Amino acid sequence: MMKDQLIEEAKQIRENAHVPYSKFRVGAALLTKSGKVYKGCNIENAAYSVSCCAERVAIFKAISAGDTEFKEIAVAADTKRPVPPCGSCRQVMSEFFDGSVNIHLSNLNADTKTITMEELLPFSFKLSDLDKKEN
Ligand code: THU
Repeated sequence: MMKDQLIEEAKQIRENAHVPYSKFRVGAALLTKSGKVYKGCNIENAAYSVSCCAERVAIFKAISAGDTEFKEIAVAADTKRPVPPCGSCRQVMSEFFDGSVNIHLSNLNADTKTITMEELLPFSFKLSDLDKKEN
């Protein structure tokens, strides 16, 4: 799948955002290595802190469906610059994405920026840092 197609999917799902508080819509489209796309939008709540970002909704949908191997993700929002993911989403991405996974950030003016997971969150805290036997 082409980068532009994935960004288009992110823009489409963005329309479903539940954002009565911020009015700020975000969409994310996550491509698995097998070619499936999981889409997510941000979902806010009257108890603000339990809101969830679009990126995490897309990732959690994929993981809960049993898909764990990812190729790339696109994120879209109505921002001046390509939308930068929040810190919590970066941490969740780093749990599931290899350092080489491409992250396409975009806005509604067709500005895009592609960076790798390693560039988005270098020196991230990982499973291996817990020094568990599985590692
Ligand atoms: N938001 C996302 O969904 N993804 C981002 O990358 C940045 C922020 C959401 C969270 C909240 O619903 C709204 O945007 C305003 O912060």
